Amino acid sequence: MCGIVGYIGKKESLPILLNGLRRLEYRGYDSAGVAIFNGEKIKQVKSVGKIENLLKKTKTENIFGAVGIAHTRWATHGGVKEINAHPHADCTGKLVLVHNGIIENYRELKTKLSAKHKFISETDSEVLAHLIEENYTGNLHEAVKKSLFQVQGTYGLVVMHVDHPELLIAARMGSPLVIGIGEEENFIASDATPMLAYTKKVIFLEDGEMADITKDSVQTYNVQDNFVSKQIEEIDWDEAQAQLQGFPHFMLKEIFDQPTVFKDAIRGRTNMEEGTAHLGGLNMTAEEMKNINRIILIACGTASYAAMVGKYAFERLSGIPTEVDVASEFRYRDPIIDEHTLVFGISQSGETADTLAALREAKRKGAFVRGIVNVVGSTIARETDGGTYIHAGPELAVASTKAYTNMITVLLLYALQFGRSRRLSLATGQRLLNAFLEISEKMQKILSQNEEIKKIAEKYKNSQDFFFLGRGINYPVALEGSLKLKEISYIHSEAYPGGELKHGPLALLSSEFPVFAIMTKNQLYEKMRSNVEEVRARKAPVILIATEGDEQAKELSDEIIYVPKTMELLEPLLNTIPLQLFAYHMAVILGKDVDRPRNLAKSVTVE
Ligand code: AGP
Repeated sequence: MCGIVGYIGKKESLPILLNGLRRLEYRGYDSAGVAIFNGEKIKQVKSVGKIENLLKKTKTENIFGAVGIAHTRWATHGGVKEINAHPHADCTGKLVLVHNGIIENYRELKTKLSAKHKFISETDSEVLAHLIEENYTGNLHEAVKKSLFQVQGTYGLVVMHVDHPELLIAARMGSPLVIGIGEEENFIASDATPMLAYTKKVIFLEDGEMADITKDSVQTYNVQDNFVSKQIEEIDWDEAQAQLQGFPHFMLKEIFDQPTVFKDAIRGRTNMEEGTAHLGGLNMTAEEMKNINRIILIACGTASYAAMVGKYAFERLSGIPTEVDVASEFRYRDPIIDEHTLVFGISQSGETADTLAALREAKRKGAFVRGIVNVVGSTIARETDGGTYIHAGPELAVASTKAYTNMITVLLLYALQFGRSRRLSLATGQRLLNAFLEISEKMQKILSQNEEIKKIAEKYKNSQDFFFLGRGINYPVALEGSLKLKEISYIHSEAYPGGELKHGPLALLSSEFPVFAIMTKNQLYEKMRSNVEEVRARKAPVILIATEGDEQAKELSDEIIYVPKTMELLEPLLNTIPLQLFAYHMAVILGKDVDRPRNLAKSVTVE
């Protein structure tokens, strides 16, 4: 949600900045802009829509120089218009900045500044440019610092000024910023992907910190404006990982990544001899683990459906009562938490504002707070007192796929670890781990049915509504299948536990209303079968996800997708994949922007 890129060095900055913005496209945006110092003044180019529009405009403008900043904007304050796109300048045009986040007191500040300053946009961000101008007496660092003390809200901010052509100033409060360290060049961006082609060495700014960045140095300061020495970290994602690798869309590539990244998630984390998992990041003593009497899993969207699978696993394997809380609700409901509560925040991006706020609340109330996160060095990863990376690699499509399966994998490993430290037998632990070892191959087998699933999507492309049904551990799978379909193909769909159908939703069914049902061979098979019969009796087309070898299931279905048999707890790792593929093909057939669906952002960093 909004992206920042900055460069200071000796090279021509425009291609670096534009390529950087492309790497951040996954965050969602509706306009973009760039500002470059040309040795005399700072020149800006902005455009509405895709980065390609910006690129076209820069070709007709004479914009060049080795110091610059760029931004992709996702509209919050002020419509999608060129004047609202970043960068924003002060009255003189000598100071230019890009900002992510929200300035909550911008109205008061704007009222005060309006007497002397001319505003041209409707944004909260422009206030920052004029405020810094107001406080500027020759020292840019001082002016930025003083201004930020007057601001309430969140920011990831990068400022440049004609009087200080060798300097970029960055500041962070609530919106992530990463500094890339190069040779006679440095970078700044909302995450590390824009700089991966140039450097793997990065510094993560923390909330309240500022940085003065030149081409040869990075000076970081804490909230009291004292110099702080920051650790330079090495990022292990390479650029190739973030590319399409021959797939037409990132979503399809990421669906097909699942067999590989699943292995990455379990590598080195299991112990077959003891039938358990070892997730070192938990950072809890055996005694502390023993004293946990409640687990809360906090997440949003797809991550919350992974959490629902986690709830089944924790309760079944460890016997610890486990709840799933949607982060945006948790933070406002005064939850009951004590020092015996373990809270996991689950997030692909590690930047989701609601999840972050909920975790802070849980921490304030004394819980053990841990993260299950994909993006290395993200805010949730750093603010929690431990946790585990899910190792899904960069997920660039807005619709989450491989992060979801890897979240489930890590939750299963945690559930196993807690289970084995309590009531779970060695034999069951080992059985689960053996089943784990077969998952990657079984995922591959499902992916080999891609073409058949595409044909099903083709057949149902004119349907206006879908139901997704599942029971037990497959209810979250139904929820996830339904979310995938609506977010990328914009088709209405709803998910229900099979048993709920007769309590109302059944009234909607007709021959025009296809129903996906997950009816794999597990302890609820017969129950689910009855629900499918109820659907058939209303003449609704049935698309079944069934276990290989279940010949009888054919009689109940109009379409059938077979999945290999696995232990019930692991079923979501397999059963979700056909639903991801179905949603993907439906969106492609309907001509939708699969990787960047309308109105959605990859990283939801506002409440
Ligand atoms: C997934 O397809 C969605 N785009 C969305 O629900 C997402 O899972 C949610 O916003 C949470 O994001 P996070 O995992 O980065 O915290």
